Amino acid sequence: MIDFEYLVKKYGTPLYVYDLDHMTRQFSKLKEAFRGRKSLLAYAIKANSNLSVVSHFAKLGSGADCVSIGEVKRALLAGIPKYKILFSGVGKRDDEIAEALKLDILYINVESEAELGRVEMIAKEMNKEARISIRVNPNVDPKTHPYISTGLHENKFGVDMETAKRMYISAKNSEHLDPVGIHFHIGSQLTELNPIREAAEIVADMVRSLAAIDIELKFFDVGGGLGIRYNDETTIEPYDYAQAVLGTMTGLDMTIVCEPGRFLTANAGYFLTKVLYEKKNGEKRFVVVDGAMNDLIRPSLYNAFHRVEVVGRKKGETSPADIVGPVCESGDFLAKDYPLPPLDHGDILILHSAGAYGFGMGSNYNTRGRSAEVIVENGKDRLVRKRESFEDIIALEREYLI
Ligand code: LLP
Repeated sequence: MIDFEYLVKKYGTPLYVYDLDHMTRQFSKLKEAFRGRKSLLAYAIKANSNLSVVSHFAKLGSGADCVSIGEVKRALLAGIPKYKILFSGVGKRDDEIAEALKLDILYINVESEAELGRVEMIAKEMNKEARISIRVNPNVDPKTHPYISTGLHENKFGVDMETAKRMYISAKNSEHLDPVGIHFHIGSQLTELNPIREAAEIVADMVRSLAAIDIELKFFDVGGGLGIRYNDETTIEPYDYAQAVLGTMTGLDMTIVCEPGRFLTANAGYFLTKVLYEKKNGEKRFVVVDGAMNDLIRPSLYNAFHRVEVVGRKKGETSPADIVGPVCESGDFLAKDYPLPPLDHGDILILHSAGAYGFGMGSNYNTRGRSAEVIVENGKDRLVRKRESFEDIIALEREYLI
């Protein structure tokens, strides 16, 4: 049990708290599901890129899925070996590609024909052979929120199967490209297995047809996307997930790469905020807190649900309230019509499942410093990112003041 009251006294609010033991358990569950097969879990750094969190995964043997050269450097700094680092994303700059090649990471996930051309050109200039994987878009509906769906042709990600085949052939014929993998990621917060199975089948067929023309791939990268329980969702068991993927891979001796983000960190994270005021506009009840959309944007952006818990036993009947922050936007809310008891100034609210896409999507909007981040492991707490001060926020502007 984490003593949230104590943590709030010690570190203040708003505050992110991460339970590393939960992350360890999630990592082991998924690794175990692929037991007996060559597998690499490449943690999707974007979900929670705090250096200490990434370092924790490094110690567990994790690799890293990165979507910018910044994330690649973060992964290396946190101790993830270069041969376990992947670099994905639709829009890599030339300098990012060059640096990834220099750093000699496992492979670059290429997302377009044009990008393949750039990677080849840059590798040639550097007199190198670039290990690449191609992100295919299997045109499967993942049945998740449209903003986090990625595997349909209407989404910007990956290339269609025909284009991919052309790209593999051209890569195979290039002195400066070494096609080693195939990648797909159809969406995030997936709670249904069928779309994953369907996508894996399409991709496995592609691998077999490439093998027939002498293009032997080593890595079968199934992306991330495993959903978690925010409220009452039924989720996919890691074992069933692994079986569904493996079931499509008959005859293929490849390393399975998996890029989980949310599954590893979401339910390990808590966002703590303090009640400032209660107010009513007509009949509508608002609880104004010190955390806001700049700290946790998921409710505003996706209408996402985060379970709310009131610390300490509060008396009184609950009634629905919107939990809102101090940011000057009507869209600044953390919950809508949430049943809450009467609250007082200083009461602490915990927003659950905030360990993925929480802090990382934060901003300084309204000149608000980002929250502090704390880890808890074996009952011990430790600050892993200090609260941003006003000085931190203006540091890059001050000397340029006109
Ligand atoms: N691999 C690739 C190529 C991805 O694009 C993503 C997530 C992942 C792995 C990790 O997915 P996960 O296992 O975490 O579902 N901000 C949104 C989620 C955006 C996900 C973007 N891509 C949210 O808060 O729900």
